[in-house]
Amino acid sequence: MTAKHAIAITVNEKRYEAVAEPRMSLADFLRDQLGLTGTHLGCEQGICGSCTVLFNGETVRACLLLAVQANGGVILTVEGLAARAESGQRLHPIQQGFLETAGFQCGFCTPGFLMTVYELLKENSSPSEDEIRERLSGNLCRCTGYQNIIDAVLWAAERLRGQASR
Ligand code: FES
Ligand code: FES
Repeated sequence: MTAKHAIAITVNEKRYEAVAEPRMSLADFLRDQLGLTGTHLGCEQGICGSCTVLFNGETVRACLLLAVQANGGVILTVEGLAARAESGQRLHPIQQGFLETAGFQCGFCTPGFLMTVYELLKENSSPSEDEIRERLSGNLCRCTGYQNIIDAVLWAAERLRGQASR
């Protein structure tokens, strides 16, 4: 039997103490141990980006990181995004942007896109279409054809700039 490891991790501003198998991925840990199933698993080999979360402020593929490697870290998942909405709003502006522009269809890829966009707009409040395309090049979507996702990011960027100037 493989020994489990105790880990302490902060996810969406809540601290968790748990045990994980040495080979358990962060994605499986979030989904199976914490019940945070908004982080989706597609390829499970680092290609599709659907499992993207923020780890200590930077995007990572949660299928490639082991839960034990995240010990002591701070994670933001898609479930934590809505908690960062403007007061009185149910959705974060990035989520709202995807809704406004039909930036998703089946929605499987969407959580990963949202987290990548969150990182992008933290770094660059006014990205060009080319910059958006480049940053999102590691996230795959089989449904939308991408233009609506670009429009969603532009919509969200404008909304966030408006918030910042108030
Ligand atoms: S499930 Fe992690 S990159 Fe595809
Ligand atoms: S909306 Fe279906 S895979 Fe992107």
